[in-house]
Amino acid sequence: MQTRMWKPAEPDNPNDPHVREAANLLNHQEVVAFPTETVYGLGADATDEVAVQRIFEAKGRPADNPLIVHVATKEQVDRLVSHIPDVAHLLMDTFWPGPLTLILESNGEAAKNVTAGLTTIGIRMPDHPLALSLLKATEKPLAAPSANRSGRPSPTQALHVKQDLDGRVAGILDGGTTGVGLESTVLDCTSNVPVILRPGGITKEQLETVLPHVAVDPALADENNKPKSPGMKYTHYAPEAPLYLIEGTDEFFLEQVERLKEEGHRIGVIASRELAEQLSHERIITCGSRLNMAEVAGQLYHALREFKKSEVDIIVTEVFDESGVGAAVMNRLQKAAVNVIQPS
Ligand code: TXA
Ligand code: MG
Repeated sequence: MQTRMWKPAEPDNPNDPHVREAANLLNHQEVVAFPTETVYGLGADATDEVAVQRIFEAKGRPADNPLIVHVATKEQVDRLVSHIPDVAHLLMDTFWPGPLTLILESNGEAAKNVTAGLTTIGIRMPDHPLALSLLKATEKPLAAPSANRSGRPSPTQALHVKQDLDGRVAGILDGGTTGVGLESTVLDCTSNVPVILRPGGITKEQLETVLPHVAVDPALADENNKPKSPGMKYTHYAPEAPLYLIEGTDEFFLEQVERLKEEGHRIGVIASRELAEQLSHERIITCGSRLNMAEVAGQLYHALREFKKSEVDIIVTEVFDESGVGAAVMNRLQKAAVNVIQPS
């Protein structure tokens, strides 16, 4: 299959010829990648089982991992769920469009492979002009997981999508680099107290400004606990070379880099500016300031894609502060890492 690449001149116009061409393919059961404010998504008509199946095939995604449905209007939510609890109305009014996915009771209108057999459905309204104009042009809810090959870091640029999915999808809409850089927060609204199943672009602290209580899925902190969000159990965000997380002080980090080098490994370092300044090492990718976790979030997936296995044997990175969007950064790094080095 030849993958078309489009860069619409008017991303916020549903009648832009490129947006229309992409929408037309989506209306004919094809899959098309598009930017959102978090990461690029791989979209298909959420009401069409054949189209949705093509997402799973293109990504190599396990069939038991449900997809997030993207909408442009609240009316589209009404058509997919059995009811909307008050708390969900409040969250939509406060945070949509934005990086917050709400898990609600499904009414069965979405194709059944979207929800992977669950009775619930995840829905969000993306805060990106091109995503919204595409949704308006198709007039359909679009199922869209992140547009990477399963297991790889999520794409934050159209080029990342092309690296992973060229020849496997009908087209890629290029909207430049995405802003947030990490996926949406997934919040289960089917229980009395909403539960964060995946930390993401909307932080727990932000949710707490409008909700009296927000719980966190215990599985996020405990590897032995089965996660409620099916996707959280798979290997994720993996760079080409094994990723080691180094805890402790900057001094300990520098010692560990030296030790690994002495053992004969070619080391790639992903580090904050503050840590990078202390390192005399040839292969460093900086991902912003550790004092500005939004900046780190924005650059993390690109950094994870940068080191190639032909160049490095091991990638090492530091541990960041878990407040605010740092919770999502550390969640992704812990999932991507195969080894954690701790000071004894
Ligand atoms: O920011 C995002 O959320 C991006 C952009 C493209 O919107 N999408 C994304 O999709 O990250 P994906 O498929 O990579 O991650 C979806 C996550 C998975 O962990 C999945 O298990 C969970 O949402 N999920 C989807 N529906 C669910 C449901 N009904 N119950 C629990 N978890 C659900
Ligand atoms: Mg994903």
